[in-house]
Amino acid sequence: MYEMGEQLERVILAGVQTYESDDTVQSLYELRELAETAGAVTVGTIMQSRETIHPATYLGKGKLEELKELLYDLDATGVICDDELSPAQLNNLEQELECKVMDRTMVILDIFAQRAKTSEGKIQVELAQLKYRAARLVGMRASLSRLGGGIGTRGPGEKKLEMDRRLIHSRIGQLKEQLEQVQKHRELIRSQRDKSRVKVAAIVGYTNAGKSTLLNTMTQAGVLEENQLFATLDPTTRALDLPGKQQILLTDTVGFIRKLPHHLNLIEAFKSTLEEAKYADMILHVVDASNPQMDEHMQVVYDTLRQLGVSDKKMITLFNKQDLCTDKEQLRDFQADHVLQISAKNGQGLEELKELLADVLREGQIYIERLVPYDQAGSIARIRKYGQVVQEEFLAEGISVKAYVPMEVYSQI
Ligand code: GTP
Repeated sequence: MYEMGEQLERVILAGVQTYESDDTVQSLYELRELAETAGAVTVGTIMQSRETIHPATYLGKGKLEELKELLYDLDATGVICDDELSPAQLNNLEQELECKVMDRTMVILDIFAQRAKTSEGKIQVELAQLKYRAARLVGMRASLSRLGGGIGTRGPGEKKLEMDRRLIHSRIGQLKEQLEQVQKHRELIRSQRDKSRVKVAAIVGYTNAGKSTLLNTMTQAGVLEENQLFATLDPTTRALDLPGKQQILLTDTVGFIRKLPHHLNLIEAFKSTLEEAKYADMILHVVDASNPQMDEHMQVVYDTLRQLGVSDKKMITLFNKQDLCTDKEQLRDFQADHVLQISAKNGQGLEELKELLADVLREGQIYIERLVPYDQAGSIARIRKYGQVVQEEFLAEGISVKAYVPMEVYSQI
């Protein structure tokens, strides 16, 4: 739909299939979704098989001519290349094609800029954008002035990005200082949470797997849930009541994606959400079981977790969207400790998930039977909060309780 005063970007996607990459088609399909999420419409796609990506112009000469014609024929306003362009490639393509030229990274950054909500997220996105721009000012200046807006120009919270090298560098310095402050604050919050000893489960998964939906349905959290990539950019943590009056904190993380530009510190930009996985007690890995690319998506998630240094946590894999799966075969994941088939949307399997979470929490806990006098009722409250009460009876002498409690709580009661 056209909005008054805003020109809809009509883009052509360009990808290169090298001998090493065999997933270019899928990658372009995903780029199309990314472009759509950023607000552009894809009018065409062009793909070239080459030994390597052309160092000067990304595509080879002949393909470039073809692209030029296609731009004209389809009345397109820009091109998005599926790989990250070097400053020289960007500049050369810009001159050859005489249209706005973007790459996958710019699109991802643009989406992140629109989605970041917490102050840390916003600072991180702007930092990543400015660093990316500082290296590519020449080509970009021409590219971005062509449309005067749209993808690649948006900063967090509708802020216009700087185009001047000197200003960019002073802004980067400012942002780094702000970031340190915000991070100190987050550390403080995290250490307070650690002290409270409530266990944390981080929800991870490929983008669009259904993480926010799961958090919503389980905790009625009201997190933004959309059929768009990266509906969630900021850590969102909610408490969930489990059988036996136990509680666990569920925390949503940003969706993983292939070809996330790691070197750009984009991972850095979302560390605040991904770090939740690092500090969590267990991982809930949500998988869209209705997606034909399910196996590749799972691999991307496992690889990313490994890069983050998350490998020693209890892992529960949730094969989601069972309502869309016609094949009712039980799916397996040998890398996980537990597996469940669920539908986050209609609630299928979620009661079993709660039971499972309670069971996992119970592992490593100690079974106690106590008679607590009424004047020491405080320890009952502690048992209820951090442990799992199996039976509770109010007697004349006090409260008789049978429960599983964590080691730290055991030593206190
Ligand atoms: P990102 O924020 O992009 O990482 O996505 P996410 O993993 O948080 O996914 P989200 O919860 O936003 O769900 C993506 C889409 O899948 C939404 O349209 C949901 O309504 C849909 N969805 C999630 N779970 C189910 C399910 O069990 N069944 C069906 N049919 N759709 C689901």
